[in-house]
Amino acid sequence: MKIALAGTGSKLPSKILTNDDLSKIVDTSDEWISQRTGIRQRHIIGEDENLVSLAFEAGKEALRSADIEGKDLGLIIVGTSTQDKRLPNTACELQPLLGAKDCACMDVSSACSGFIYALSIAYSMMNTLDIDYALVVGGDVLSREMDWTDRTTCVLFGDGVGAAVLKKADIEAGFLSFDIGADGSKGFALYDNSYGDDRYIRMDGQEVFKFSVRTVPNSIKNAIEKAGVNKDDIDVFLLHQANLRILEAVSKKLEIPLEKLPHNLENTGNTSAGSIPLLLDEVIKKGIAKKGDLILLCGFGAGLTWGSCVLRL
Ligand code: ACO
Repeated sequence: MKIALAGTGSKLPSKILTNDDLSKIVDTSDEWISQRTGIRQRHIIGEDENLVSLAFEAGKEALRSADIEGKDLGLIIVGTSTQDKRLPNTACELQPLLGAKDCACMDVSSACSGFIYALSIAYSMMNTLDIDYALVVGGDVLSREMDWTDRTTCVLFGDGVGAAVLKKADIEAGFLSFDIGADGSKGFALYDNSYGDDRYIRMDGQEVFKFSVRTVPNSIKNAIEKAGVNKDDIDVFLLHQANLRILEAVSKKLEIPLEKLPHNLENTGNTSAGSIPLLLDEVIKKGIAKKGDLILLCGFGAGLTWGSCVLRL
């Protein structure tokens, strides 16, 4: 039996903050932000939105696209670092909203790699617990963790959530490999110590950049090797949407044409655990990734953590 992707969904908050809007809050410019990152705007939650409300919309859409109902779910996992509450977890909050009952519910905190970590856990649990359908959600509302006076961080991030339904099926498609890892000794490069004096996200941008262009190609190579396929067989590479320059560096290092690395960071900013499922949903809706295509997903971020997987749609 294979574990396959059965449907996807996504939700971005309605409020948009452009680079020009930000230049009225901090000493920055559209030119600086777009040249260094590729980002032009990001979506930010309004007063009536939070992680659960976005995850509910994304989850509902993923269930609809998989043609199943909440009651069919045996598992809900949410990859996030920005829960609305410490208890109960986000997955438990989603369960009754989606009409699911009695299924296992958990959150996974692995920052921008959270969706890939959550997929790999869902994959394992579906096999060991004989679960037919799982909902895997990835998303963050980092605007709540932002120091809106710090131009080195507040221009980079946005809010958003994506979701995927996985199903157990006797078909050729499905997940072929995972490569997951972390280097905790580099935790200083990106942290958010809510219990300390300073409760905002802080980052050593250059350290994160160096880590990304070194670790991401290795993780991608490992996942491809474990899947027993060739790099050229991969139709689409969906990488965490942190920065266009990171995507360009990875494409150059791995000798993959940049056209195979679709991106939406110009519209969303860095949505942390939301970025890969948001992009996955978008490329499927636009027909950029089609049934039968071989796709690679790769997340990387605070921890420092990373995770890649190969699947056939
Ligand atoms: N607007 C204008 N100027 C700015 C801004 C801003 N928003 N932010 C920093 N600057 C200034 C700095 O103060 C500095 O000025 P100085 O030379 O007078 O001291 C100058 O710009 C250069 O700053 P650097 O930090 O050296 O700029 P760099 O070229 O490294 O670009 C950036 C910064 C874009 C953050 C880059 O390091 C990067 O992309 N790093 C990756 C970080 C990342 O993507 N993090 C996301 C979270 S982690 C993840 O998702 C993987």
